Amino acid sequence: MPLIELKNVSKIYQLDSVQVKAVDQASFSIEQGEFAAISGPSGSGKSTLLNIIGLIDVPTDGTVILNGLDIYKGIDLPKMKHIPLGLDSRLTDLRRNLIGFVFQTFNLVPVLNVYENVEMPLTLGDSPAADNMNRKERSEWLDFLIETVGLTEWKKHKPSELSGGQRQRVAIARALVTKCPVILADEPTANLDSKNGDQILELMQKLNRELKTTFVFSTHDQKIVNMASRVIHISDGRVLD
Ligand SMILES: Nc1ncnc2c1ncn2[C@@H]1O[C@H](COP(=O)(O)OP(=O)(O)O)[C@@H](O)[C@H]1O
Ligand SMILES: [Mg+2]
Repeated sequence: MPLIELKNVSKIYQLDSVQVKAVDQASFSIEQGEFAAISGPSGSGKSTLLNIIGLIDVPTDGTVILNGLDIYKGIDLPKMKHIPLGLDSRLTDLRRNLIGFVFQTFNLVPVLNVYENVEMPLTLGDSPAADNMNRKERSEWLDFLIETVGLTEWKKHKPSELSGGQRQRVAIARALVTKCPVILADEPTANLDSKNGDQILELMQKLNRELKTTFVFSTHDQKIVNMASRVIHISDGRVLD
């Protein structure tokens, strides 16, 4: 069973008189353990696609299946004007359990240190991962992740004291902290120089190998595309064969 399955997924933005097809009838699936890239030029729909997979954006049509669960089953997406509250809270729950996010701009909390930033998802609402660990196990898990991303010596430092590459390492550790099966990374190297970008990709590869976490990342950088074990090409919202 694929971990992620999209069937004829579309996201159309209606702007006054024009329609923008950000994602146009996309169909593909991603198996557990893949290290997959979504590749395409700026504006081709990469972020929209990742946000749909990550349950941040709701598509205007199609089927999204995550971990065997048909997310919008029984919902008439093309006719839906607003996201009903029940669906919204269900999406939030699923997102917390299934998905870790890494963004181009890192999105760390400036007043928290490295350790606290990584811990943060465990402190938000109900987190099954948090419930399954006692205090000692939790601090060991946090130390393990911080060690794995190479930041043990920086544990007590705030994001402003770190380089871009180090900040992205914090974001990756934070994405992994809930033990979710998939990490979605939207142009994770776009704000890094090529050396730091390569190191971030190598770290993601290592985590993919060692923790078996599935990675799906977007990029318009050909060099980074070559590091993926699988590439989904997108152009004008359409997935190319
Ligand atoms: N909230 C929005 N409202 C209107 N158009 C949008 C919105 N978000 C994205 N788009 C449009 O959808 C297309 C795909 O955008 P995006 O997914 O951000 O592409 P990429 O990440 O590949 O640069 C672009 O034409 C963009 O302008
Ligand atoms: Mg984008």
